[in-house]
Amino acid sequence: MPAMEGRLISIEGPDGAGKSTLALGLRNELAARGIEVILTREPGDGPVGPQIRQVLLEGADIDQWTEVFLFLADRRQHVEGLIRPALEKGKWVVCDRYLDSTIVYQGYGRDLDVGLLRKLNKIATSGLMPDRTLLIDMPVEKALARIGVADLFGDGGAKRNRHDRLDREPVEFHRRVRDGFLAEARLDPARFAVLDGDQEPAKVLEQAIASLTAS
Ligand SMILES: Nc1ncnc2c1ncn2[C@@H]1O[C@H](COP(=O)(O)OP(=O)(O)O)[C@@H](O)[C@H]1O
Ligand SMILES: [Mg+2]
Repeated sequence: MPAMEGRLISIEGPDGAGKSTLALGLRNELAARGIEVILTREPGDGPVGPQIRQVLLEGADIDQWTEVFLFLADRRQHVEGLIRPALEKGKWVVCDRYLDSTIVYQGYGRDLDVGLLRKLNKIATSGLMPDRTLLIDMPVEKALARIGVADLFGDGGAKRNRHDRLDREPVEFHRRVRDGFLAEARLDPARFAVLDGDQEPAKVLEQAIASLTAS
């Protein structure tokens, strides 16, 4: 197997925290520095991903473990079909959500066995861990308000333009998700960089670049 020179950077955080915005900014910034970089996301960017994504984000009444296995099936194909080949070619891969999302949404969020989820993630990825994980942290109400979720803000759902099955979970679920991400970051401080998402996009990007060049 050829030596891996590429780097895998995952971006994690609650819905609306600005992951996709940062992923795009990061891709452009790295490319401007002459780095070959691929931007990808989970679920959905693997070869069988779009169909799995559709079920995950729109399917009703999915059993919790069925949900886990769908995410893992998508991840497996994403890693083996796209991420690992790119890394082996020396490319950098910026991945919008990766294995920590499973631990946090299904483990902390849905209260499934976190130890078991870690083992399943390891099988799904053959142990491919990110070189760096950028966790965008911010208060969940602010993040959800950005994407127009939650009538708690009294807008009658007028801004509900992109909600999906997970976005629609109660706010307590999203709080457990936020706390879960922070707990995971504390467990692995060498891999995680926690970014303050409650600032303008250019600042978030600046923090991200600083955390990448510091390593
Ligand atoms: N730092 C930021 N400050 C204010 N608004 C932001 C910021 N980052 C993203 N947004 C906006 O918030 C919404 C959600 O951003 P997005 O990147 O899609 O979040 P995520 O991918 O984490 O769900 C988008 O409308 C986006 O333009
Ligand atoms: Mg996004």
